[in-house]
Amino acid sequence: MKIGIIGAGDVGSTLGKEWAKRGHEIVFGVRNIQSPKVKSLLKIADSNIKVATISEAASFGQVVLLAVPWEAVKETIENAGDLSGRILIDPINPLSSDLKNLIVGPSTSAAEEIAKLAQGAKVVKAFNAIGAKTLGNLKFGQYKADTFICGDDSGAKSIVRKLAMEMGFDVLDVGPLSNARLLENLALLWIELAFRQEMGPNIAFKLLTRTSGM
Ligand SMILES: NC(=O)c1ccc[n+]([C@@H]2O[C@H](COP(=O)([O-])OP(=O)(O)OC[C@H]3O[C@@H](n4cnc5c(N)ncnc54)[C@H](OP(=O)(O)O)[C@@H]3O)[C@@H](O)[C@H]2O)c1
Repeated sequence: MKIGIIGAGDVGSTLGKEWAKRGHEIVFGVRNIQSPKVKSLLKIADSNIKVATISEAASFGQVVLLAVPWEAVKETIENAGDLSGRILIDPINPLSSDLKNLIVGPSTSAAEEIAKLAQGAKVVKAFNAIGAKTLGNLKFGQYKADTFICGDDSGAKSIVRKLAMEMGFDVLDVGPLSNARLLENLALLWIELAFRQEMGPNIAFKLLTRTSGM
């Protein structure tokens, strides 16, 4: 699959490398090809990885991952150009500077605001309630880390589910895009546990289920 990744930081580069290893064609869209993060990406000898402008990456991808800080979202979507019809994956947490609160919500979410800005895109929230480094190593003993996804387009969600499962996630569809309000709060819990409760970033959420009985 052709995937455009806007932002070559911790989340974008980790997901891009994982998908490239599995045969997907990745074009990173960056604003500055000289940045240290982009230079280290370019050192990877993987023919599935290319670097281009933000609009080139956006027009390349059947799927586009928006891996930039919340503050950069409006400008980045403007620079991306027409995203209508694209599957737009949103891993973004709109965090306050002390990482304790969300600065969007509670009656909306970053995902819903992104859907308003990227008219016609099929937005799917995913990968936001886990640490970027852990995205490259999702096995915890006998368990796989969960990613919770939500969105209003079932076809788009099934493609994101497949991309997540290929990387090693168990995937839970938590419903419509408005449930991103819950997932963005779940990220706050992850941050609290990892940093203020000092559990470290090597943690992930897992929902336990029973098939029958008690
Ligand atoms: N880090 C995590 O553990 C984690 C986990 C889950 C979700 N998230 C979310 O994922 C998103 C990305 O996080 P990250 O940790 O990957 O961030 P990061 O390492 O700081 O990387 C951010 C990327 O966005 C680019 N960027 C910043 N401002 C931009 C702009 N105005 N236009 C275009 N590109 C811009 C940066 O480019 P330059 O190199 O040119 O500055 C960089 O490539 C955030 O919204 C975050 O909330 C992060």
